[in-house]
Amino acid sequence: MRKTVQNIKSAKNKTPLVCLTAYTAPMANIADQHCDLILVGDSLSMVLYGENSTQNANIEMMVRHGRAVIKSSKNAVIVVDMPFGSYENSPEEALKNAQTIINETGACAVKLEGGENIKDTIKLLTNSDIPVMGHIGLLPQSVNSPDGFKVQGREQDQAEQLMKDAKAVEQAGAFSFVIEAVPEPLAAVITASVSIPAIGIGASAACDGQILVTEDMLGLSVGRKPKFVKAYADLNKNIDNALSQYAKDVQERSFPAEENTYKNKNAA
Ligand code: KIV
Repeated sequence: MRKTVQNIKSAKNKTPLVCLTAYTAPMANIADQHCDLILVGDSLSMVLYGENSTQNANIEMMVRHGRAVIKSSKNAVIVVDMPFGSYENSPEEALKNAQTIINETGACAVKLEGGENIKDTIKLLTNSDIPVMGHIGLLPQSVNSPDGFKVQGREQDQAEQLMKDAKAVEQAGAFSFVIEAVPEPLAAVITASVSIPAIGIGASAACDGQILVTEDMLGLSVGRKPKFVKAYADLNKNIDNALSQYAKDVQERSFPAEENTYKNKNAA
Protein backbone atom coordinates (compact mmCIF):
# COMPACT_ATOMS: atom_id res chain seq x y z
CA MET A 1 0.00 0.00 0.00
CA ARG A 2 1.20 3.50 -0.77
CA LYS A 3 2.56 5.49 2.17
CA THR A 4 0.70 8.69 3.05
CA VAL A 5 1.77 12.23 3.83
CA GLN A 6 0.69 11.47 7.42
CA ASN A 7 3.27 8.64 7.51
CA ILE A 8 5.91 11.14 6.37
CA LYS A 9 4.80 13.71 8.94
CA SER A 10 4.93 11.23 11.78
CA ALA A 11 8.47 10.15 10.85
CA LYS A 12 9.84 13.25 12.63
CA ASN A 13 12.74 12.29 14.93
CA LYS A 14 12.68 8.67 13.73
CA THR A 15 14.73 6.76 11.13
CA PRO A 16 15.73 9.31 8.47
CA LEU A 17 13.39 9.46 5.47
CA VAL A 18 14.80 8.23 2.14
CA CYS A 19 13.80 10.52 -0.72
CA LEU A 20 14.91 10.78 -4.37
CA THR A 21 13.66 12.36 -7.56
CA ALA A 22 12.16 10.37 -10.44
CA TYR A 23 10.69 11.66 -13.67
CA THR A 24 10.14 8.50 -15.69
CA ALA A 25 8.49 5.09 -15.35
CA PRO A 26 11.69 2.98 -15.23
CA MET A 27 13.36 5.19 -12.60
CA ALA A 28 10.17 5.39 -10.51
CA ASN A 29 9.87 1.60 -10.59
CA ILE A 30 13.34 1.20 -9.02
CA ALA A 31 13.20 4.20 -6.66
CA ASP A 32 9.84 3.04 -5.31
CA GLN A 33 11.49 -0.04 -3.80
CA HIS A 34 13.84 2.10 -1.70
CA CYS A 35 12.16 5.43 -1.03
CA ASP A 36 9.65 6.79 1.44
CA LEU A 37 9.03 9.74 -0.86
CA ILE A 38 9.68 10.36 -4.57
CA LEU A 39 9.76 13.90 -5.91
CA VAL A 40 8.87 14.61 -9.51
CA GLY A 41 11.14 17.64 -9.39
CA ASP A 42 11.14 20.55 -11.81
CA SER A 43 14.86 19.74 -12.08
CA LEU A 44 13.58 17.54 -14.92
CA SER A 45 13.75 20.59 -17.19
CA MET A 46 17.56 20.57 -16.79
CA VAL A 47 18.20 16.84 -16.32
CA LEU A 48 15.87 15.49 -19.01
CA TYR A 49 15.28 18.43 -21.34
CA GLY A 50 18.75 20.04 -21.26
CA GLU A 51 17.43 23.48 -20.22
CA ASN A 52 19.63 25.98 -18.32
CA SER A 53 17.39 26.33 -15.29
CA THR A 54 14.32 24.88 -13.62
CA GLN A 55 12.40 27.99 -14.71
CA ASN A 56 11.73 26.24 -18.03
CA ALA A 57 9.52 23.57 -16.51
CA ASN A 58 5.77 24.01 -17.02
CA ILE A 59 2.55 22.43 -15.81
CA GLU A 60 2.16 20.22 -18.87
CA MET A 61 5.65 18.71 -18.30
CA MET A 62 5.03 18.19 -14.59
CA VAL A 63 1.69 16.47 -15.29
CA ARG A 64 3.13 14.22 -18.00
CA HIS A 65 6.03 13.04 -15.82
CA GLY A 66 3.94 12.98 -12.63
CA ARG A 67 1.53 10.51 -14.30
CA ALA A 68 4.38 8.26 -15.39
CA VAL A 69 5.81 8.17 -11.86
CA ILE A 70 2.45 7.52 -10.22
CA LYS A 71 1.69 4.67 -12.62
CA SER A 72 5.06 3.01 -11.95
CA SER A 73 5.08 3.18 -8.15
CA LYS A 74 2.93 1.77 -5.39
CA ASN A 75 4.87 2.35 -2.18
CA ALA A 76 6.33 5.85 -1.96
CA VAL A 77 4.55 9.16 -1.41
CA ILE A 78 4.71 10.99 -4.75
CA VAL A 79 5.18 14.76 -4.66
CA VAL A 80 5.08 16.88 -7.82
CA ASP A 81 6.82 20.27 -8.02
CA MET A 82 4.72 23.30 -8.91
CA PRO A 83 6.69 24.89 -11.74
CA PHE A 84 7.95 28.48 -11.91
CA GLY A 85 5.11 30.91 -12.67
CA SER A 86 2.33 28.59 -11.52
CA TYR A 87 1.92 29.74 -7.89
CA GLU A 88 3.54 33.14 -7.33
CA ASN A 89 0.83 35.46 -8.70
CA SER A 90 -1.94 34.73 -6.22
CA PRO A 91 -3.02 31.99 -3.80
CA GLU A 92 -6.16 31.47 -5.92
CA GLU A 93 -4.18 30.88 -9.12
CA ALA A 94 -1.85 28.56 -7.19
CA LEU A 95 -4.86 26.58 -5.96
CA LYS A 96 -6.25 26.18 -9.48
CA ASN A 97 -2.88 24.98 -10.80
CA ALA A 98 -2.26 22.67 -7.82
CA GLN A 99 -5.72 21.12 -8.39
CA THR A 100 -4.82 20.51 -12.04
CA ILE A 101 -1.55 18.81 -11.05
CA ILE A 102 -3.19 16.62 -8.38
CA ASN A 103 -6.26 15.75 -10.48
CA GLU A 104 -4.31 14.92 -13.63
CA THR A 105 -1.48 12.95 -11.99
CA GLY A 106 -3.03 11.39 -8.89
CA ALA A 107 0.02 12.62 -6.92
CA CYS A 108 -0.12 12.76 -3.12
CA ALA A 109 1.13 16.36 -2.75
CA VAL A 110 2.74 19.35 -4.43
CA LYS A 111 5.97 21.16 -3.55
CA LEU A 112 6.43 24.95 -3.65
CA GLU A 113 9.61 27.00 -3.22
CA GLY A 114 9.57 29.78 -0.63
CA GLY A 115 8.90 30.53 3.02
CA GLU A 116 7.20 33.51 4.68
CA ASN A 117 6.50 35.02 1.24
CA ILE A 118 4.18 32.17 0.23
CA LYS A 119 2.61 31.26 3.58
CA ASP A 120 -0.87 32.41 2.50
CA THR A 121 -0.63 30.22 -0.59
CA ILE A 122 0.45 27.17 1.42
CA LYS A 123 -2.41 27.85 3.85
CA LEU A 124 -5.02 28.05 1.09
CA LEU A 125 -3.78 24.82 -0.53
CA THR A 126 -3.65 22.84 2.71
CA ASN A 127 -7.08 24.22 3.76
CA SER A 128 -8.33 23.00 0.37
CA ASP A 129 -7.09 19.45 1.06
CA ILE A 130 -3.97 19.66 -1.07
CA PRO A 131 -0.98 18.46 0.95
CA VAL A 132 2.04 20.72 0.54
CA MET A 133 5.76 20.14 0.88
CA GLY A 134 7.75 23.36 1.35
CA HIS A 135 11.23 24.15 0.02
CA ILE A 136 13.49 26.67 1.78
CA GLY A 137 17.16 27.68 1.57
CA LEU A 138 18.60 27.64 -1.93
CA LEU A 139 15.63 27.99 -4.26
CA PRO A 140 16.54 26.77 -7.76
CA GLN A 141 13.63 28.71 -9.32
CA SER A 142 15.19 31.96 -7.99
CA VAL A 143 18.32 31.44 -10.06
CA ASN A 144 18.21 35.09 -11.19
CA SER A 145 18.01 36.66 -7.72
CA PRO A 146 21.26 38.27 -6.46
CA ASP A 147 21.43 35.80 -3.56
CA GLY A 148 20.51 32.97 -5.93
CA PHE A 149 22.61 29.87 -6.43
CA LYS A 150 24.83 29.65 -3.36
CA VAL A 151 24.90 28.30 0.17
CA GLN A 152 22.16 30.02 2.18
CA GLY A 153 22.19 31.21 5.80
CA ARG A 154 25.87 31.95 6.38
CA GLU A 155 25.07 35.56 7.34
CA GLN A 156 23.15 36.25 10.55
CA ASP A 157 20.24 38.04 8.83
CA GLN A 158 19.89 35.22 6.27
CA ALA A 159 19.98 32.62 9.04
CA GLU A 160 17.22 34.45 10.92
CA GLN A 161 15.12 34.66 7.77
CA LEU A 162 15.56 30.94 7.13
CA MET A 163 14.33 30.15 10.63
CA LYS A 164 11.27 32.39 9.99
CA ASP A 165 10.70 30.62 6.66
CA ALA A 166 10.77 27.18 8.27
CA LYS A 167 8.31 28.28 10.95
CA ALA A 168 6.03 29.94 8.39
CA VAL A 169 5.91 26.83 6.22
CA GLU A 170 5.16 24.67 9.28
CA GLN A 171 2.45 27.03 10.58
CA ALA A 172 0.83 27.29 7.14
CA GLY A 173 0.19 23.54 7.25
CA ALA A 174 2.94 21.92 5.15
CA PHE A 175 3.56 18.27 6.08
CA SER A 176 7.32 18.54 5.46
CA PHE A 177 9.86 20.74 3.70
CA VAL A 178 13.05 20.47 1.70
CA ILE A 179 15.96 22.50 3.09
CA GLU A 180 18.65 23.07 0.46
CA ALA A 181 22.30 24.19 0.71
CA VAL A 182 22.28 25.36 4.33
CA PRO A 183 25.35 25.00 6.60
CA GLU A 184 25.26 22.15 9.09
CA PRO A 185 24.84 23.99 12.40
CA LEU A 186 21.93 26.09 11.10
CA ALA A 187 20.25 23.14 9.34
CA ALA A 188 20.42 21.19 12.61
CA VAL A 189 18.93 24.08 14.64
CA ILE A 190 16.11 24.59 12.12
CA THR A 191 15.37 20.85 12.00
CA ALA A 192 15.15 20.72 15.79
CA SER A 193 12.90 23.82 15.92
CA VAL A 194 10.01 22.50 13.83
CA SER A 195 7.53 19.67 14.32
CA ILE A 196 7.51 18.53 10.67
CA PRO A 197 10.29 16.61 8.87
CA ALA A 198 13.03 18.74 7.30
CA ILE A 199 14.42 16.88 4.28
CA GLY A 200 17.99 17.93 3.58
CA ILE A 201 19.81 18.39 0.30
CA GLY A 202 23.20 19.82 1.10
CA ALA A 203 22.00 20.48 4.64
CA SER A 204 23.71 17.82 6.81
CA ALA A 205 22.82 14.47 8.33
CA ALA A 206 21.00 16.22 11.19
CA CYS A 207 17.91 16.57 8.98
CA ASP A 208 14.95 14.19 9.27
CA GLY A 209 15.69 12.73 5.84
CA GLN A 210 17.70 13.27 2.67
CA ILE A 211 16.89 13.89 -0.97
CA LEU A 212 19.09 13.94 -4.07
CA VAL A 213 18.47 14.23 -7.79
CA THR A 214 18.75 10.55 -8.78
CA GLU A 215 20.59 11.20 -12.04
CA ASP A 216 23.22 13.20 -10.09
CA MET A 217 23.94 10.43 -7.58
CA LEU A 218 24.02 7.83 -10.37
CA GLY A 219 26.50 9.79 -12.47
CA LEU A 220 23.89 10.10 -15.19
CA SER A 221 23.63 13.87 -15.53
CA VAL A 222 25.69 16.37 -17.47
CA GLY A 223 27.72 19.26 -15.99
CA ARG A 224 29.27 20.17 -12.65
CA LYS A 225 27.84 18.51 -9.54
CA PRO A 226 27.34 20.39 -6.28
CA LYS A 227 29.56 19.38 -3.31
CA PHE A 228 26.60 17.73 -1.59
CA VAL A 229 26.16 15.08 -4.30
CA LYS A 230 27.78 11.74 -3.52
CA ALA A 231 28.44 9.58 -6.59
CA TYR A 232 26.93 6.16 -5.92
CA ALA A 233 27.52 4.97 -9.50
CA ASP A 234 29.06 6.14 -12.76
CA LEU A 235 26.31 5.26 -15.21
CA ASN A 236 27.50 7.73 -17.86
CA LYS A 237 30.67 5.63 -18.11
CA ASN A 238 28.76 2.31 -18.12
CA ILE A 239 26.45 3.53 -20.88
CA ASP A 240 29.36 4.96 -22.86
CA ASN A 241 31.16 1.59 -22.66
CA ALA A 242 28.04 -0.29 -23.76
CA LEU A 243 27.34 2.00 -26.72
CA SER A 244 30.94 1.90 -27.81
CA GLN A 245 30.86 -1.94 -27.77
CA TYR A 246 27.60 -1.87 -29.76
CA ALA A 247 29.11 0.45 -32.39
CA LYS A 248 32.13 -1.87 -32.73
CA ASP A 249 29.91 -4.99 -33.02
CA VAL A 250 27.74 -3.37 -35.71
CA GLN A 251 30.75 -2.24 -37.73
CA GLU A 252 32.37 -5.70 -37.46
CA ARG A 253 29.05 -7.48 -38.24
CA SER A 254 29.35 -9.45 -34.98
CA PHE A 255 25.94 -8.05 -34.00
CA PRO A 256 23.34 -9.32 -34.63
CA ALA A 257 24.70 -12.79 -33.88
CA GLU A 258 23.00 -16.12 -34.64
CA GLU A 259 20.91 -15.94 -31.45
CA ASN A 260 19.58 -12.49 -32.34
CA THR A 261 18.52 -13.47 -35.85
CA TYR A 262 15.17 -14.91 -37.07
CA LYS A 263 15.27 -18.02 -39.27
CA ASN A 264 12.67 -19.56 -41.56
CA LYS A 265 10.49 -22.16 -39.76
CA ASN A 266 12.10 -25.28 -41.26
CA ALA A 267 15.65 -24.00 -41.55
CA ALA A 268 18.27 -26.39 -40.16
O1 KIV B 1 13.48 19.85 -8.49
C1 KIV B 1 14.13 19.14 -7.72
O2 KIV B 1 14.70 18.10 -8.10
C2 KIV B 1 14.22 19.55 -6.33
C3 KIV B 1 15.21 18.83 -5.48
C4 KIV B 1 16.54 19.43 -5.71
C5 KIV B 1 14.84 18.84 -4.05
O3 KIV B 1 13.55 20.44 -5.90
